Amino acid sequence: MKVLLTGGAGFIGSNLVRLLLHDAPDLEITNLDKLTYAGNLESLAGVANSPRYRFVRADVADARAVERVFAKGFDAVLHLAAETHVDRSLEDAAPFLRTNVLGTHVLLEAARRHGIGRFVHISTDEVYGSAPAGAFFDESAPLHPSSPYAASKAAADLLVSSYVHTFHVPAVILRCTNNFGPYQFPEKLLPLAIANALEDRPLPVYGDGMQERDWIYVEDYCRAIHLALERGRPGEIYNVSAGRPRANLDVLRALLALVGKPESLIRFVEDRPGHDRRYALDSGKFRSELAWAPQNDFERALAATVEWNRANAEWLERCRSGAYRNYYRRHYTERKKTLERWQSS
Ligand code: NAD
Ligand code: TYD
Repeated sequence: MKVLLTGGAGFIGSNLVRLLLHDAPDLEITNLDKLTYAGNLESLAGVANSPRYRFVRADVADARAVERVFAKGFDAVLHLAAETHVDRSLEDAAPFLRTNVLGTHVLLEAARRHGIGRFVHISTDEVYGSAPAGAFFDESAPLHPSSPYAASKAAADLLVSSYVHTFHVPAVILRCTNNFGPYQFPEKLLPLAIANALEDRPLPVYGDGMQERDWIYVEDYCRAIHLALERGRPGEIYNVSAGRPRANLDVLRALLALVGKPESLIRFVEDRPGHDRRYALDSGKFRSELAWAPQNDFERALAATVEWNRANAEWLERCRSGAYRNYYRRHYTERKKTLERWQSS
C-alpha cells in the first residue's frame, strides 16, 4: 500500500512514520511536509534511508505542488499537516486558516480526482470546546471551537464531511486529545515544562492551573491511526482518548516529583485569552469497533518522555535556538505586554 502522509516531520507525524515503517512492512510512505518551525527532519534521522520512505518538501495549500505529488499514485492519505499551537493562533490566525482549512481542501480535491481509497483526517478534541465538569463528549457532541486554531480544525472537519457526503471521498475523521512523548516541539505544555524543569527554570502555568486535559502517549495514538488506516469505516468520526483528564497543576507536580525538583518552580502567569477549561472525550466507539486501548500508563510514559528529553538535549537545543527565543520572550518574559497587544489590536 502506498501512503501519502502529510506533516510527517512534526511531533505525531514523525512518531507515526517510525511506527508504520516498523509495524507495517507492506507500507510505502511518502512524507509531504512544508518544514515550518515545527517540522524537523532530524526527528526522522533513524528512518530517512529506509527504501520504503521518501520525503517531499511541499505546502499542502499549494494545489499545483500537491497535484505533482499525487501524480505518483497513492492508495491512501494520512493528513496530519497543520498549524497546531493555540497560543500562536491568538497571535496570528492567518497561517492556521491557510494550512488547516485551505490545505485540507486542496488535499480533499486531489483525493477526489485521484480516487484515493482511504483518507484519514487528523482532527482534535478542541473542536468540541470546553466540556463541563464530569462530562465526556462523544462524537455526537456539537462543535464549539473556542480558539482560532480549534475553529480552523472544525472548519476542516466540516469540509471533510462534505466531501464524504457529496463526492464519496472515503474519509475517516479522528479526534484525539492532548498527546505527549518524544520529538514534541517545546511550545506545548509538557515539553516546555520538562525542558524548563531539567534546567531549574520556572514552569509557567496559565491562570489558576486547574484546567484539565486528557493526556495520551503519542505511541498509543499512532497505533490508533494505524488501525484507522486499516479498518476505520469511511464516513465515520472517531474520538480517541485515554479518558483520564488531569488538572495542569497535577501534571506539573507529577513531573517535578519525577525529576526531583521543588514545586517552587511553578510560576502562575496571566491566563490565555479564551482558555478552554476542560477537555474530556468518550472514545468508546473507537475502542469497541477497532479493538484499541491505550497501553501506556501516564506516569510511566511521562518518565519515558523525560528520559528521552535527557538523552536528546541537542535536538531540543536546536529547536530552542533562533526564532524560538523571540517566541519565548513574547509569550513568557513579556507576557503581559503581549496579551495587552492581542486584546487591543
Ligand atoms: P506539529 O506542530 O508538531 O507538526 C505539524 C507538522 O505539519 C510540521 O512538520 C509542519 O512542518 C507541517 N506543516 C505545517 N504547515 C504545513 C503546510 N502548509 N504544508 C505541509 N506541511 C505543513 O503538530 P502535531 O502535534 O504533530 O499534530 C499533528 C496533527 O495532530 C495536527 O493535525 C493536529 O491538529 C493534530 N492533533 C495534535 C494533538 C497534539 O496534542 N499534538 C492533539 C490532537 C490533534
Ligand atoms: P497546550 O500544550 O498549549 O495544549 P492545548 O491548549 O492545545 O490543550 O496546553 C495544555 C494546557 O496547558 C492548556 O490548558 C494550557 C496550559 N499551558 C500552561 O499552563 N502553560 C504553558 O506554558 C502552556 C504552553 C500551556
